[in-house]
Amino acid sequence: MLTPTKKLLLKAQAGNYAVGAFNINNMEIAHAIMEAAEREAAPVICQTSEGSLAYAGMDMLLAIGRQLAVASKIPISLHLDHGKHPEVVKEAIRAGYQSVMYDGSAHPFARNVEITSEVVKLAHQGGVSVEAELGALSGIEDFVTVRQRDAHLTNPLQAREFVKKTRCDFLAIAIGTSHGAYKFTGRSKLDLLRLKEIRSRVSVPLVLHGASSVPKSLVKQVEKFGGDLGKPMGVSDRDLRQAVKNGICKVNTDTDVRLAFTAGIRKILKREPDEFDPRKLLAPAYEEMVAVIRWKIKLLGSSNKA
Ligand code: G3H
Ligand code: 13P
Ligand code: ZN
Repeated sequence: MLTPTKKLLLKAQAGNYAVGAFNINNMEIAHAIMEAAEREAAPVICQTSEGSLAYAGMDMLLAIGRQLAVASKIPISLHLDHGKHPEVVKEAIRAGYQSVMYDGSAHPFARNVEITSEVVKLAHQGGVSVEAELGALSGIEDFVTVRQRDAHLTNPLQAREFVKKTRCDFLAIAIGTSHGAYKFTGRSKLDLLRLKEIRSRVSVPLVLHGASSVPKSLVKQVEKFGGDLGKPMGVSDRDLRQAVKNGICKVNTDTDVRLAFTAGIRKILKREPDEFDPRKLLAPAYEEMVAVIRWKIKLLGSSNKA
């Protein structure tokens, strides 16, 4: 059932859990997200990046998402992830997404405020809610000094000013996560104190990007069947639970699903070298994706919240 993202996230905020937001690039990924959500009776967000739109097209991905949503009683919303080009964000607003992200985090504060505010006005006219971002997504280890860290991670006072000025509906913050499979060189470490300070100053639901866990079991399976991933490291279960406990309401996950897909594909290609029916090749990838998404939903506390 298509449901406004804002409704999902305000309910999560009140219930102190987070809704999983998973990236889709094709039918199999979208279907796996929906099956996992159904089996966990959990609300879920399917999101498309600009990269996925270039790969499959907005109309195609929206059609897949809508079809899955209308066929289900699970509350689901379709969200534009990391819209960096205002024209893409505007297209998504017109196309019928429940929410859009305008990511102006690479701009200086004033310019980010300016463009985000314009996007918010337009989106709200169309009944669409907006996620905005403040701060740079990079691992804490990238910053040697406290000063460097303060310059890159989200500043709590600026966050309050940003939300007040832009009137955005959700805020993505930088507290030490980064995109991809290589988030930390040592152990997982998030700036949870910073999160608490932001939470005390900002009332809109907060979003955590780069939240993949990079489960060791999936990495091992990829490597067992011929992959070589180097030294990947994700956010620890403990850090993720703490982040949700301290106010994160939307948790973005893409890498874990990519790893699950790859683990499934590698396994069947290696074990059944004479198989060439794409449906059979994709079946184990689908099962691996459903399993990791179900696990993630449980970790976020959103099982049985549909
Ligand atoms: O934010 C990053 C997501 O994992 C999307 O990645 O731009 O390769 O589709 P992508
Ligand atoms: P991961 O790379 O950690 O899965 O993050 C995905 C994300 O933030 C999508 O916006
Ligand atoms: Zn992201």
